[in-house]
Amino acid sequence: MLYSEKVMEHFRNPRNVGKIEDADGVGEVGNAKCGDIMKIYLKIEGDVIVDVKFNTFGCASAIASSSMATEMIKGKPLSDALALTNKAVAEALDGLPAHKLHCSVLAQQAVRAAIKDYYDRNGVACDKAQLSVIDCEDGHCE
Ligand code: FES
Repeated sequence: MLYSEKVMEHFRNPRNVGKIEDADGVGEVGNAKCGDIMKIYLKIEGDVIVDVKFNTFGCASAIASSSMATEMIKGKPLSDALALTNKAVAEALDGLPAHKLHCSVLAQQAVRAAIKDYYDRNGVACDKAQLSVIDCEDGHCE
């Protein structure tokens, strides 16, 4: 079986799909090679992500990764969301096939892009290094 049960479950029944009209931060990222696009909307109060929605035009792994990533950052402080790695998303999904790890990278990037948008809108100085995405320790994301 290529995909774990969890990947299939999140693909068939993704959480937090949609759009937040008055979002405080929106992040859109794409992967040039596969053409998949992921957009994440954040509603932020104080320092906490009180709501999150996503729209993903992409493969099953990208949809499952977006779904899982939104579940992992909902109700959490921004610092937790910034620390979210693609590895943690993939692990929470009980793993992704090696050639599909880049799909979880997209989720990590989209979350950070949305937080960066929030910081930019509010003129908050932030640690750019933290936002400049991506550590592909496994060497599999492309
Ligand atoms: Fe590109 Fe999954 S194949 S995000």
